[in-house]
Amino acid sequence: MAVASEIRIVNDAAELFKTAADEFAMLAAQAVHRKGSFCVALSGGSTPKGLYTSLASKNAPAVPWSQTRVFFGDERLVPPEHPDSNFRMANETLLSKVPLQPDNIFRVPTEESDPEQAASRYQSLMENYFAVRPGQFPCFDLILLGLGSDGHTASLFSGTAALAEKKRLVVANWVEKLKSHRVTVTYPVIDNATCVMFLVSGKEKAGIMREVFENPKADLPAQRVKPASGRLLWLIDYAAAGLLSGQAP
Ligand code: 6PG
Repeated sequence: MAVASEIRIVNDAAELFKTAADEFAMLAAQAVHRKGSFCVALSGGSTPKGLYTSLASKNAPAVPWSQTRVFFGDERLVPPEHPDSNFRMANETLLSKVPLQPDNIFRVPTEESDPEQAASRYQSLMENYFAVRPGQFPCFDLILLGLGSDGHTASLFSGTAALAEKKRLVVANWVEKLKSHRVTVTYPVIDNATCVMFLVSGKEKAGIMREVFENPKADLPAQRVKPASGRLLWLIDYAAAGLLSGQAP
């Protein structure tokens, strides 16, 4: 049975990034206390960038970086130094600025020119790190997600094959409207996390937020995220919440 979602609405983007940074630090401390490490899957997009900048700032809450392991929920098929690379963005804003061991940063091997190879190598890397056997899924302490204006999340876009994946951890997903492949974790991985945290900011997201929360028939990729027993937290600002009638699903 899936858990109910928690929705927290804050004043503006600055408060969103600060609240998200505090949640990140708290989840990291709890995970380290429980099992000695904190495993997080980062997302791309402009909203997480604000969180990463906040986590790297001098006022950031304390995070046990030496016990933190960083993965990525999705990636574009570009080299790690490319402007579109999620790794590059996270590295420039956060990873290179905090005391994280390079060995504890697990990026998608996009130097593989074949998207299927990149996905299967990243899946193997996750399977090895989490020591999962076939049929099992890793349990991330935190998976960060954004919400695209079309309702996509990670690189799970409406009408794409990855939405139906039940067995693999990571897949190459052809996105026709972008005319490109993305590498993305699948729902079984997202839904097995201890906490899934969506970050949504800005009035351009207000319409899609209303669809996600108030139109169950829309069948948007973000609506299909249903952690089995973990927390599902939506952190949004007033602008993004502007068209909600006030009821969380
Ligand atoms: C990506 C993503 C994607 C993103 C959303 C929201 O790599 O683009 O992981 O799912 O999180 O598109 O992005 P914004 O925060 O920029 O609106």
